[in-house]
Amino acid sequence: MRNPHGAELFCARTPAWAGRIVLKMAELKLLLEHAHESEFATLRGYVARGGYEGLKAALGMDRQGVIDQIKASGLRGRGGAGFPTWIKWNGIPKEKNGTHYILCNADEGEPGTFKDKQLMEQTPFELIEGMTIAAVATQGDVGYIYIRGEFLDAAKAMRRAIDEAYRDGYLGQNILGSGLNFDLHLHLGAGSYECGEESALMSSLMGERGMPRLKFPHAPLPTIAGLFDRPTVINNVETYCCAPYILKNGGEWYATLGAATKNSRGTKIFSVSGHVNRPGNIEIEFGTSLMELLEMSGGMQGGRLKACVPGGSSVPIINAEACEKAIIGYEEMGDVKTMVGSGGCMFLNDHTCIVKFIWRTALFYARESCGKCTPCREGTKWMLQILTRIVDGKGQPGDDQLLLEICKQIDGRSFCGLGDAAAWPVEAAIRVFPEEFDFYIKNGRSMVETPLMATMSPR
Ligand SMILES: Cc1cc2nc3c(=O)[nH]c(=O)nc-3n(C[C@H](O)[C@H](O)[C@H](O)COP(=O)(O)O)c2cc1C
Ligand code: SF4
Repeated sequence: MRNPHGAELFCARTPAWAGRIVLKMAELKLLLEHAHESEFATLRGYVARGGYEGLKAALGMDRQGVIDQIKASGLRGRGGAGFPTWIKWNGIPKEKNGTHYILCNADEGEPGTFKDKQLMEQTPFELIEGMTIAAVATQGDVGYIYIRGEFLDAAKAMRRAIDEAYRDGYLGQNILGSGLNFDLHLHLGAGSYECGEESALMSSLMGERGMPRLKFPHAPLPTIAGLFDRPTVINNVETYCCAPYILKNGGEWYATLGAATKNSRGTKIFSVSGHVNRPGNIEIEFGTSLMELLEMSGGMQGGRLKACVPGGSSVPIINAEACEKAIIGYEEMGDVKTMVGSGGCMFLNDHTCIVKFIWRTALFYARESCGKCTPCREGTKWMLQILTRIVDGKGQPGDDQLLLEICKQIDGRSFCGLGDAAAWPVEAAIRVFPEEFDFYIKNGRSMVETPLMATMSPR
């Protein structure tokens, strides 16, 4: 099987679907096809491998034509929420009376996720081309890539690529002689998880504290008043990287990928980590099963599969039985009570203490809470306090129920999504593995611990 730009598809899909059982799918490299060729990170190497065909196609269309292709593709945001990309792009006002901004969320703070880092380091022109296509679709004038502060290699690769693109007329004034003007800047954050939340990202970019802003319906959408109160599109790195392939091959072609799912199209990169033999980024077609993703990662290491956090630390944990049924798709993952999220997929073996795992997760959210609203600021600290006394062997009867009660008070009642992200993992861990919490609270120790682990402090 070959994909439209001539490359081998690493796909051994058998045509028939037997109910929910997926028959043999394998890695399907679209964004990552040339990632390991160093030439692909140079403008010449990128163009030689079909790069910028998508932008050229977009420049031959009007604004609505580009948006229609994105709509036909079914592309949904890869940053976590899976929001339809075309709706954002279409929401930018058609009449232009000032600057339109194109923002790239390259903060990638979600624990377990490291795909954007690889994309920026190895396929930087996919991102630049994707953002330029977004500029065509929205009459964008200025773009910013907001990169996580620790990603120095990614920032250097992007800097080099942007300089090259300016030099050869792919950025700046009158791009490729088309009359399009688009300037692109890099901005390094300071490594705050909250700055990945889109309104906090914009605050940070404007020189304010990295805290979220009031949202729709209490404030206008960013497409109307975002960065510097101007119309703004904000998307994740991977989302933009899909655009060149959609414009080059057509939205309808893209929509054939993942067509077996309810409403998830294209490919998704999963950052696989945990107890697997071959951790790393793996690009798959939507509709692949979670167990196949595990197989592509070399299978389990050091024990049998016990649990999985498939979409980054904020998504609900599932047990091995749910993993067996899980099909990768935005709606399909909901069927097993979890999410695609940002694709940070952690597989855990049966020597993992879920209570300690979730204690470590709660520590992260308590530290990253920005403190603006009470449910998250106080709730994340209380959850951490209770989990800490449990893992210290001082848990009290009813602590698990108390944790669930706090989760309820945070979830849906916080000012931004970080509150929900802090509550979901704790709630899911207690719901899926109640016996582990019960045992730990009653006995003051983990039910899965070996004697050596028992001597080690969780902190
Ligand atoms: C606390 C928090 C952190 C987030 N961090 C990221 C991030 O690092 N990268 C990202 O793309 N989206 C992140 N998001 C989601 C963004 O707010 C936003 O939905 C996304 O950038 C939109 O792009 P997309 O439609 O292409 O997914 C975060 C959301 C929250 C609530
Ligand atoms: S939920 Fe509230 S305290 Fe938590 S990060 Fe968002 S605004 Fe800050």
